[in-house]
Amino acid sequence: MHPRFTTAFATLDNSLQQALKPVLDDPNFTAILQPETLQHLMTATGLDGDALALALLPLAASCAVTPISHFNVGAIARGVSGRWYFGANMEFSGATMQQTVHAEQSAITHAWLSGEEKLAAITVNYTPCGHCRQFMNELNSGLSLTVCLPDHPPRTLADYLPAAFGPADLNIHSVLMDINDQQFVPQGDPLTQAAIRAASLSYAPYSAAYSGVALQTRDGKIYAGRYAENAAYNPSLPPLQSALILLNIRGGDCTDIQRAVLAESDDAALLQHSATQTTLAALGCQHLDSVRLTRT
Ligand code: THU
Ligand code: ZN
Repeated sequence: MHPRFTTAFATLDNSLQQALKPVLDDPNFTAILQPETLQHLMTATGLDGDALALALLPLAASCAVTPISHFNVGAIARGVSGRWYFGANMEFSGATMQQTVHAEQSAITHAWLSGEEKLAAITVNYTPCGHCRQFMNELNSGLSLTVCLPDHPPRTLADYLPAAFGPADLNIHSVLMDINDQQFVPQGDPLTQAAIRAASLSYAPYSAAYSGVALQTRDGKIYAGRYAENAAYNPSLPPLQSALILLNIRGGDCTDIQRAVLAESDDAALLQHSATQTTLAALGCQHLDSVRLTRT
């Protein structure tokens, strides 16, 4: 298994350890649990879904990268497909606080980038901050998303975000995780194409400044991330963060990025380029290429 799991794995109950070991030992494990695996884990441990998700949180939290706080938050986004997606917080030394990724954003983005179309629930090891509650209110699950926390009964997002402000206040009704394809024309090498495709699938209903980032690590792997806006603007997730979430959760190292491509329109109302370049530089990557988006 990935060395980041070793310590947390040792703290799990014996029955869970036994059932989970082959899953984590699979070299193709990408921090997603399939419905059949979850069924097997529930049978082997006697835990129901909510209890199993809570029991797995130490593993999700062990994916955190927290050089500043050393406070590891783990989240599991539970899709309507029955798949569960790990997420963990990420901090970037040498960048700004605003570049931080919360565990909830990581798990949700992991699910979205993996093709999940809607979430049923999210399980987190700490109470979600206001920023995450607002971020979650952009999802197509709406206020009925179930939020599961240790030491609290499951509640809905509506309970955690009363008198909510959301997309409908700005007249937006096709929201985050709904499928929207801008169909920008693919071009260039595989990394550039991945960035363009991510921009096509990005969510920018407030600015129309669609964007995507693709990262290539030294081992040749490609990770593409999509921009995700928020009705309240500030909890928006930049496309670089989205790509870094995928890289990290799949077991890659964010300091191992060889080349990055940002796809955006140079006449857009918002530009990601300078923030992307600065955060990449903090991670030791100086090689950022840009590609403009075109429609046929
Ligand atoms: N954090 C989360 O990941 N989720 C929350 O909702 C609370 C805060 C992270 C952000 C930062 O990396 C660390 O915990 C300290 O706030
Ligand atoms: Zn948060």
